[in-house]
Amino acid sequence: MSTPEILTEREEGVLRVRIHRLDKKNALTLAMYAALTAALTEAAEDAAVRAVVLTGGGDSFSSGNDIADFLAAPPAGEDSPVFRFLTALRQFEKPLLAAVNGPAVGIGVTMLLHCDLIYARSGATLAMPFVNLGLCPEGGSSLLLPRLIGYPRAAELLLLGEPFSAEQALEWGLINGIGADADATLELALGRARRLARQPAAAVRLAKMLLKRNEAEALRDTMALEGRHFIELLNAPEAAAALRAFVERRRG
Ligand code: COA
Repeated sequence: MSTPEILTEREEGVLRVRIHRLDKKNALTLAMYAALTAALTEAAEDAAVRAVVLTGGGDSFSSGNDIADFLAAPPAGEDSPVFRFLTALRQFEKPLLAAVNGPAVGIGVTMLLHCDLIYARSGATLAMPFVNLGLCPEGGSSLLLPRLIGYPRAAELLLLGEPFSAEQALEWGLINGIGADADATLELALGRARRLARQPAAAVRLAKMLLKRNEAEALRDTMALEGRHFIELLNAPEAAAALRAFVERRRG
């Protein structure tokens, strides 16, 4: 399925999913989460899809949740489009790759933690400023990030919301490789995805399950707990003020 803001295209067993809301740096709305979830669900059911590559249109990967949406239609529970999307990512059994063509913020980064292979454009900046906005980590990041890069670095990225570069992410082992520009980055990801698409499907699926099995239960519990606290904080005055400041600064 394709919508104007979530474009999908299949070629040689690889489904490309492009986040495409250029005027807002690919900020994600409720409708876009629903479309992403539908794309993943369809990819899971379609035997012709052997790998999925997530990428962004224009010069950004994703600026995260649409901040105006956070104020107008905050998620209310596990059935909210954002949490359904995160669950679909967590449960996706086929290889999931990302080509980070530009800045990635908030859930634009946490979604990467669920990918199997990640490539980023040289110089791309990533950040998870949840706490800066009066919010808490989501999408399993409080569990996955310290496991991937160690607690001290994860604390800097999650408690201070410090931005980091694709080069730092590579050095920390958070991503697999760097492309010189957006096209080269996408080509890197597509090349790997095509190779994965030619691997024996059942073996790939089982290997992915085995690689993730030890953290599967803890990840499910962590995401549920993060989700509950995230909703509480989103409805508290600190976050409302920080989010309103973002919207008003832009208007002013
Ligand atoms: N939600 C809604 N709108 C957003 C957005 C978001 N998450 N991120 C960017 N935008 C909008 C801006 O308001 C601006 O809209 P306008 O042209 O109508 O004023 C437009 O996208 C361009 O953003 P701008 O900041 O001018 O682009 P940039 O190239 O200088 O920076 C980013 C790009 C992604 C680094 C920057 O926009 C950013 O950091 N966004 C904040 C994202 C954020 O905090 N997300 C966390 C959610 S938990």
